[in-house]
Amino acid sequence: MTNQVQLPLLEVRGLKKWFPMSKGFFQQRTVFVKAVDGVDIDVQAGETLGIVGESGSGKTTLGRCISRLYEPTGGQITMRTDGETLDVSALKGRELSAFRKRAQMIFQDPYSSLNPRMTVLETVGEPLLVNNLAKGKDLEERVTQMIVQVGLRMEHLRRYPHSFSGGQRQRIGIARAMVVNPCLVVADEPVSALDVSIQAQILNLLKDLQEEYALTYLFISHAMNVVRYVSDRIAVMYAGKLVELGSKQELLSHPRHPYTEALLASVPKPSQRKRGMRLVSAGEPPDLINLPKGCVFASRCKYATDQCKEQPPELRQVGTTEYVSCHLTESLTLQGI
Ligand SMILES: Nc1ncnc2c1ncn2[C@@H]1O[C@H](COP(=O)(O)OP(=O)(O)O)[C@@H](O)[C@H]1O
Ligand code: SF4
Ligand SMILES: [Mg+2]
Repeated sequence: MTNQVQLPLLEVRGLKKWFPMSKGFFQQRTVFVKAVDGVDIDVQAGETLGIVGESGSGKTTLGRCISRLYEPTGGQITMRTDGETLDVSALKGRELSAFRKRAQMIFQDPYSSLNPRMTVLETVGEPLLVNNLAKGKDLEERVTQMIVQVGLRMEHLRRYPHSFSGGQRQRIGIARAMVVNPCLVVADEPVSALDVSIQAQILNLLKDLQEEYALTYLFISHAMNVVRYVSDRIAVMYAGKLVELGSKQELLSHPRHPYTEALLASVPKPSQRKRGMRLVSAGEPPDLINLPKGCVFASRCKYATDQCKEQPPELRQVGTTEYVSCHLTESLTLQGI
């Protein structure tokens, strides 16, 4: 038998999203916030790729470009599904609507992402209705089946969001995303607004649904301890760039980028949980309007050399499944967990 190489479900190349902003007293100058600036990633069918990085590193923008809630400024997004290869970055009109059904998002804030004037039946049924997938009795049956699967009950169907807890609201958001049978789900900080005691329940629900429907997840979080719980591979973002990508085991035990090392050092140990999160590393991320000419992490990196401040490192392959963008990776011995 020949060994078939499986092509990734999703291929992202050189993805950019620059937000224009007016500057100056008379707003006479347009500058660009480089929220995502040249990201390459592959996502394999059925895997969970975690995206981690501090607030402001471009995770949400990346997720929104991939699910085409944002139009990218540049780069390529390709998705292979149902025997078709889609040029996601170029989709328009009806094709774009059809794609949005296949790539669903789960949002951070279950309080603001649900319409307070819509019942659970209307909220979860809406994507079926607008995509002409079901109506009437058939729709109600599919919504009922879905909400039971996410751990809610039939009597919840006609209630409004205000009568639910944060965890239950997130279950409604998950049901709404899953009801149209997507192949890719972008979950953007899906447990960050929830009590720690509820977080594991929601993460386990996502894992169960993934198994049942063979889903592919892009799982976004600023919290390494959440990302490590759900991911097969982890991508680390800093200042709109991918700085490291690798299998979970390898990235956690042998980080190859100084920023990953700093993120891992900030994961609270069980004995420290009550004292809260430690700072990732001294200093501030660079100004995304005026990125430095060398390595984006140089101003906070304890290993930085003159070369780092002058030349930007490229993302390059350093192991079977490991990629890193750091000039010095081969000469550093970084601390994992
Ligand atoms: N619509 C927008 N207009 C201008 N700047 C934006 C917009 N959305 C995000 N940004 C900026 O882009 C950067 C990345 O933001 P975001 O993708 O939300 O990061 P993260 O999700 O990692 O916290 C931030 O500096 C943010 O202020
Ligand atoms: S390239 Fe230099 S500054 Fe950037 S992470 Fe590597 S060692 Fe640090
Ligand atoms: Mg975000």
